[in-house]
Amino acid sequence: MRIVAAKDYNDMSRKAANIVAGQIFLKPNSVIGLATGSTPLMMYKELIRMSAEDGLDFSEATTFNLDEYIGLSTDNINSYHYYMYNNLFNHVNIKKENIFIPNGMTSDIEKECMDYEEKIRQRGGIDLQVLGIGNNGHIGFNEPDVKFEATTHQVKLDQETILANARFFDNIDDVPKYAISMGIKTIMHARKIVLLASGLNKAESLGRALYGGITPEVPASILQLHQDVTVVIDGECASFLKRMGDDTIE
Ligand code: PGA
Repeated sequence: MRIVAAKDYNDMSRKAANIVAGQIFLKPNSVIGLATGSTPLMMYKELIRMSAEDGLDFSEATTFNLDEYIGLSTDNINSYHYYMYNNLFNHVNIKKENIFIPNGMTSDIEKECMDYEEKIRQRGGIDLQVLGIGNNGHIGFNEPDVKFEATTHQVKLDQETILANARFFDNIDDVPKYAISMGIKTIMHARKIVLLASGLNKAESLGRALYGGITPEVPASILQLHQDVTVVIDGECASFLKRMGDDTIE
């Protein structure tokens, strides 16, 4: 596991964008796993800038998003479909047929999950998976007490996740209770992983994930077993992890 300490959120975002862009420069037809939420927003802005100014070309790339809320249509501003088109896809030259996000409006969730796994397999697996981390240590929507062996599946969101995500909705009761998420097994099969974390809240859950035991109670702790993880953190996270005793961080 490599930890890359950035100065601040903007620097973290630039460094993460360089990793994603580097993957696409080296292998234009890469399969990239994408995350939503506040953390990667600036990384997406930077990728858009690189595609406009630096020749970053998404035309052969394929993307698979980690998750989607169940019950939100693609035009709902809180759906991850909307987020991804608004914050990245509408602004780069990715082909629509190469974009995959779980369908949260499906009438057959089990089939949707199986099909999603099959599509990942058909595209040759995920080359680089981008992750955030929840305050409760979740990755994707794999909440504490997750089954490590699960592939894409329906998840019930933790109360902590619902509270954390309520900031995007008018009313906490509007936050969906269920989602479709890649499972831990899906994520662990990615060839490379880059995890972004910024701010003190995230530092605490990241500390538990990186230095605690590997346990379903902290889903991100499984990443200790992956052979190619880069964790990109801002200054606040870096200071916290140093205080926890990590003397490898510069
Ligand atoms: P955030 O969410 O980037 O909005 O903080 C990350 C997550 O919950 O995985």
